[in-house]
Amino acid sequence: SVNNSWFSTKARLTAEEWGENYFLVGPYVESNVRTQVELIEPTNPALKRAIDKMNSSGCKVYFGRWLIEGSPYVVLIDVAFTAWNLDKWKKELWDNFSIGVPWFDREANDAVLFGFLTAWLLGEYAAQCEEPPHILAHFHEWLAGLGLALCRQRQLPVATIFTTHATLLGRYLCAGSVDFYNNLADFNVDKEAGDRQIYHRYCLERTAARCAHVFTTVSQITAVEAEHLLKRKPDIITPNGLNVKKFSAMHEFQNLHAQSKNRIQEFIRGHFYGHLDFNLDKCLFLFIAGRYEFSNKGADIFLEALARLNYLLRVSCVCACPALCVCVCVHVYQKMCVRLESIQTPQLFPHFVRLLGQLPDVSKMLSKDDFTMMKRAIFATQRQCQPPICTHNMLEDSNDPILTCIRRIGLFNSSADRVKVIFHPEFLSSTSPLLPMDYEEFVRGCHLGVFPSYYEPWGYTPAECTVMGIPSISTNLSGFGCFMEEHIADPSAYGIYILDRRYRGVDESCNQLTSYLFQFCQQSRRARIIQRNRTERLSDLLDWRYLGRYYISARHMALAKAFPDTYFYQPHDSDTAQGFRYPRPASVPPSPSLSRHSSPRQSEAEEDDDRYDEDAEAEKDRLNIRQPLTLPSKKGPALPYTLPG
Ligand code: UDP
Ligand code: G6P
Repeated sequence: SVNNSWFSTKARLTAEEWGENYFLVGPYVESNVRTQVELIEPTNPALKRAIDKMNSSGCKVYFGRWLIEGSPYVVLIDVAFTAWNLDKWKKELWDNFSIGVPWFDREANDAVLFGFLTAWLLGEYAAQCEEPPHILAHFHEWLAGLGLALCRQRQLPVATIFTTHATLLGRYLCAGSVDFYNNLADFNVDKEAGDRQIYHRYCLERTAARCAHVFTTVSQITAVEAEHLLKRKPDIITPNGLNVKKFSAMHEFQNLHAQSKNRIQEFIRGHFYGHLDFNLDKCLFLFIAGRYEFSNKGADIFLEALARLNYLLRVSCVCACPALCVCVCVHVYQKMCVRLESIQTPQLFPHFVRLLGQLPDVSKMLSKDDFTMMKRAIFATQRQCQPPICTHNMLEDSNDPILTCIRRIGLFNSSADRVKVIFHPEFLSSTSPLLPMDYEEFVRGCHLGVFPSYYEPWGYTPAECTVMGIPSISTNLSGFGCFMEEHIADPSAYGIYILDRRYRGVDESCNQLTSYLFQFCQQSRRARIIQRNRTERLSDLLDWRYLGRYYISARHMALAKAFPDTYFYQPHDSDTAQGFRYPRPASVPPSPSLSRHSSPRQSEAEEDDDRYDEDAEAEKDRLNIRQPLTLPSKKGPALPYTLPG
């Protein structure tokens, strides 16, 4: 299934590659360990000696297997247990790196403890090895970065990689009202970090980036950000992948779409009960989902574009963002409970038989009770108010950015509105009484994911859509958008619409988004099915089996830099995907953005188009994507990439 934290999904591939020599190091959190880790004796003798030594010196270090795919080994360090070292280590940090960490920043204090402990572990391990080892350590994010800097300062035999998944300062600056990308080169980084009281965190991040043998980020857009804010150009980009689930039946994902769509339709039926003046079968479900960062995630321009689209079309739209909420709105429940089951329609049938050839007299066909029952039903479903926008009662209704925006643009679900909006201010869950669906199931049932983010270092949401065969809109300010633009000649033909938010103003981007939405809504059902098939074919590109190669390259590079006498790095074609592109699909229907029909009437013609040879097209794409990585066997040498020095 799509369980997407990058570190847990990536572990399987790395474990396959490094086998017994792969250890994840992290902080010990008892509640997680209880359910996710099998604690065992360390398997590697040198590591066992290192852990024993640390434990006899006042640390608590655990060893086990993490019960995720690939079952990697984990070394877990109880950070709080060694808090008595904090002052001593902070002084060392100041003396050696001139970084002062204030006492009140708990997270940064933990980062100091964790940094010193990981460097201790690596140093101790190196000391316990009989032969000088070649260790490779990959550190992610500022919280883990200090361990890297200490390895370099202590000159440990460790090849180091630092990966930042977003820069600290970038996140802070974008959260304000700063014209981020146009001013990237001009920020006074020290001052900006100081103003936001994150100077020490920023210093830890920058030190790790500067000290690393190899520095990487998750996307081109974050690479530009890192170059300006951390003052080092990344050596290689390591995009985030997924573990793609393959079905044995080729088009199973299409069936799943139909099934999940039925369930969403059920929910819509309940939500709009008494107002259902539109044909659900012709309804398209568009959605935005993720962390509730109103403008970073592009919810602002999505809503604005929906308002513009409202003049053009009828669609239905669902937003799923987490926000403050108290309870499920009772009003919605009542509506779902009213049914018209008491009308006895079968009794009409004998009347038709008897009155064959004549127009029926309705007053004779229905009894007085039936009329009363119908009146009751109509009365019960009559609503003076509009169908609700929000599924929950919000604590801060009047200040909520989404609700405020909806009020301003006037999308109130009135019967004249062709775009209906539902705001579900909570992550989706199959245990919710309202919309009992997991996020994955919900995505499958929708037609288009809309993620017009302004700040999005990678962006898993559109990537997840892609592997489920659901088209999406992202932007050239998101890592995913940049990656797809680089690897696909005509992304929109594959259902990957990429908005230009980098070189256009907000209003222009919003117009572009409106036109994408409008074009999408013009497609016939057949065109949508074909487009979904194409989208799903891109999933190989997002699988760790393919994207893992960038991590492998980073590791080669780091080993060659740290141990130049033993390792030699030469980038070759299969290490990087440079120059590789999916071509524009040859057969019809073509890219909506290139040759869209201007009216729904015309698009009906596509239904009969028989020039589309899907199998031939799929075969072409399959030949284009390079073969999955061939990994060395588990029993292979400890460091499989020993190349001639
Ligand atoms: N997500 C979820 N339930 C929801 C909405 C979103 O589990 O109701 C998950 C989604 O599957 C995705 C993550 O939230 O993996 C958002 O990741 P993304 O990279 O898009 O944004 P970030 O959190 O990094 O800003
Ligand atoms: C899948 C199903 C089809 C269904 C279609 C609906 O392809 O296999 O049976 O007709 O979805 O597509 P739509 O884009 O209208 O939801």
